[in-house]
Amino acid sequence: MSKKSYAVTIAGGGSTFTPGIALMLLEEHDRFPVDKVVFYDNNAERQETVAKACEIYFREHAPELDFSYTTDPVEAFTGIDFVLAHIRVGLYAMRELDEKIPLKHGVLGQETCGAGGIAYGMRSIGGVIEILDYMEKYSPNAWMLNYSNPAAIVAEACRVLRPHSRIINICDMPIDLMDKMATMCHVKGGRRSLQYSYYGLNHFGWFTKVYDSEGNDLMPEIKRHMAKNGYLDGIEHEEGREQHIDESWIYTFGKAKDVWAVDPETIPNTYLKYYLFPDYVVETSNPNYTRANEVMDGREKRVFGACRDIIAKGTSEGCGFEADAHATYIVDLACALAENTKERFLLIVPNDGAVSNFDETAMVEVPCIVGANGYEKICQGKVPQFQKGMLEQQVSVEKLVVQAWVEGSYQKLWQALTLSATIPSAQVAKEVLDDLIEANKGYWPELK
Ligand code: NAD
Ligand code: LMR
Repeated sequence: MSKKSYAVTIAGGGSTFTPGIALMLLEEHDRFPVDKVVFYDNNAERQETVAKACEIYFREHAPELDFSYTTDPVEAFTGIDFVLAHIRVGLYAMRELDEKIPLKHGVLGQETCGAGGIAYGMRSIGGVIEILDYMEKYSPNAWMLNYSNPAAIVAEACRVLRPHSRIINICDMPIDLMDKMATMCHVKGGRRSLQYSYYGLNHFGWFTKVYDSEGNDLMPEIKRHMAKNGYLDGIEHEEGREQHIDESWIYTFGKAKDVWAVDPETIPNTYLKYYLFPDYVVETSNPNYTRANEVMDGREKRVFGACRDIIAKGTSEGCGFEADAHATYIVDLACALAENTKERFLLIVPNDGAVSNFDETAMVEVPCIVGANGYEKICQGKVPQFQKGMLEQQVSVEKLVVQAWVEGSYQKLWQALTLSATIPSAQVAKEVLDDLIEANKGYWPELK
């Protein structure tokens, strides 16, 4: 490994994930030496709480690190090598509406799927493109590793609006599922030693092959676990994992048993539950207390509570800050780009034949080999009729959302909602859309 040290900007400095990512960067210093970290956010107050606490932590644990935080794009994006982006346009208040408005109409409300995901997509596109433009203006050779949601819609918007940009969209769900599969099969080297094939869209895909490092086929064993308990047999309550341990996630990992049963040849992404069992999701949702409430009462309170505590005490000693071990995939990806490691990653990239019987312009999630010059896709061949049908429908939803955003088209957004497998009719789609427009005033482009 070269001796170069890297400068990293975390965009969405006030995110609940920022302390975990920042500490993880410190932990991974030997592999990925970082000598400068900048937090950037457009919400000074929210960022300041997280940044002041991290500043104390860095002073105590990495005094040599050049750390700063800012809301000024010039300061944030000048002289950097990587942008790690995790923004949430509209914060949890808007996520709550994305989830609750559809439920009022008997339709599921979810952060990235169905009507909620479409609403969030319409807010996110502008925010992510703005950050990409800042990076390209002030550090044209930098890479942006984006995991702001809804990744499928954001990735399609980047393909359409900034086709030559140095942005890579990546998701942590398959990473978590690979951790679970490695646990189920007692794979010694863990997730990193797995070789896999996978195809789909973001939050909408299937594993088709999983091998260990010696080439042993793990699919039969994984299928046995899926048939019994879904992903529950792979659950390990790792220290520092903030995201997938809440009650709602435990139900989702269990429900994967039924999702798997629809096509037992493949191993599904958990998010397919929203498209294959939308009626079940509505029946089991509490319209007054959704995932946004669970996160606001859980992770957000914990993270911001710990930050305030550190600031009040002036020390991070015994503060409950922990590195997000799970997020090391971000460092793996940055290393691959910086150090030309040519490792395999599941990325969201233009199809261009990687799935041969599917829209060439779709942003698909497929394995890629990553090195200093970016990524090379690994072809997944043809997908079966069932998946092809689902993919065609969902990719059209995502493309129509981006077209609606670009053109300011009410009609196209209505079509997108109508086409979503989570919404029963054009009439319901229209009613949901009209409420979402009202709630998203100031966030969405004006629709005509
Ligand atoms: P959060 O609300 O705690 O933090 C998001 C931060 O982004 C806030 O501080 C907000 O002020 C800031 N922000 C919003 N718009 C901005 C803009 N235009 N420019 C700069 N900053 C802006 O949210 P969170 O729960 O920590 O999640 C952050 C993001 O990460 C979300 O999009 C979430 O869906 C995503 N996420 C992705 C994955 C993945 O693997 N793809 C996993 C977990 C979370
Ligand atoms: C989160 O807030 O954790 C999300 O981004 C994903 C989830 O858990 O709903």
